[in-house]
Amino acid sequence: MTNYPEFTSPILSELPDKGTISCSSPSNIALVKYWGKRPVQLPENASISFTLDACKTITSLHYKKHDKVSENFDFDLIFEGKHKLDFKPKIQSFFSRIETYLPFLKQYHFTIETSNTFPHSSGIASSASGMSAIAYCLMQLEKMINPAMSEVECIQKASFLARLGSGSACRSIQGPITVWGKHADIQDSSDAFAIKFPDKVHQNFEDYQDTILLIDKGEKQVSSTVGHDLMHGHPFAAKRFEQASGNIIKLKEILISGDLNSFIEVVESEALTLHAMMMTSLPYFILMKPNTLSVINKVWEYRKKTGSKLCFTLDAGANVHLLYPNIEKDQILEFITNELVVYCQNGQYICDKIGLGAKLL
Ligand code: PMV
Repeated sequence: MTNYPEFTSPILSELPDKGTISCSSPSNIALVKYWGKRPVQLPENASISFTLDACKTITSLHYKKHDKVSENFDFDLIFEGKHKLDFKPKIQSFFSRIETYLPFLKQYHFTIETSNTFPHSSGIASSASGMSAIAYCLMQLEKMINPAMSEVECIQKASFLARLGSGSACRSIQGPITVWGKHADIQDSSDAFAIKFPDKVHQNFEDYQDTILLIDKGEKQVSSTVGHDLMHGHPFAAKRFEQASGNIIKLKEILISGDLNSFIEVVESEALTLHAMMMTSLPYFILMKPNTLSVINKVWEYRKKTGSKLCFTLDAGANVHLLYPNIEKDQILEFITNELVVYCQNGQYICDKIGLGAKLL
């Protein structure tokens, strides 16, 4: 297990007694996908994502100091107004992973009150926004305890902690584009935390839109934890990690040059490769639904007919993220309502765009 002594911090001042910290943190959508990891939560390849804006988790961390250090983590979890016992084990294991880095955790009772702006069980992963929101709140508490900590250190450590909750969560702390995973061509990149894409991004990507078509809101048959594990011993794993690394180089150039045709090619190929990895693992599985494929074919037809720069990407699920430049917004929304809504469960879709990451409320 790799240790990161630079993220351990002594308690330098008196601990605050009680209070509340509230923040929001968004979801993110990977362009170059992370699929395959090493312990603990370290990626097999670097990934790049758009941070979203509207799909987010809003979290209040109520903290109250104990008279003495307690033996176990002491917290309650309230999700959308209700105590959620089934979420507690995930937070419990998150706290045990980050305890070395936040030595004050057992000195407090926490009530974590959280809700999402997107519909519950919409198939949109809430772990990225949820875990990054908790990590961000905890870092605000740490900043009170260690006031000498700079904003840069605080953001970096929030991403580092979020990663230990859910890998891709580390990419939600900042925006609009972040990179997670060490890559020789991305300056200051690290396996331990995400960084803002370091180069100047072309204006073609300003206000880039992401409309999420909710194709299937059912429970996923295979969790991403299991999916990542299936990359161990996967017949194509080594080639896949090599390909992802090449796609990081390509996407870096694309983000700088604004070449939208190449953007489409890399992003769609990444989405299909992610699902191809699932279909070729043992056991094999398919998370796309027939409507996912119908939408993909419609997108290809539309592009051919109109010359639009609309493209799709997929998460580990059946929903389709439609990515497109802001200037095409009106036409594409018309295309969605006229031709794609029929493929969405209950006609539901969410209009989102790239955003700036976690913030204090
Ligand atoms: O962060 P996890 O363990 O839920 O994995 C996320 C994996 C993908 O969403 C499929 C890809 C990615 O890079 O976000």
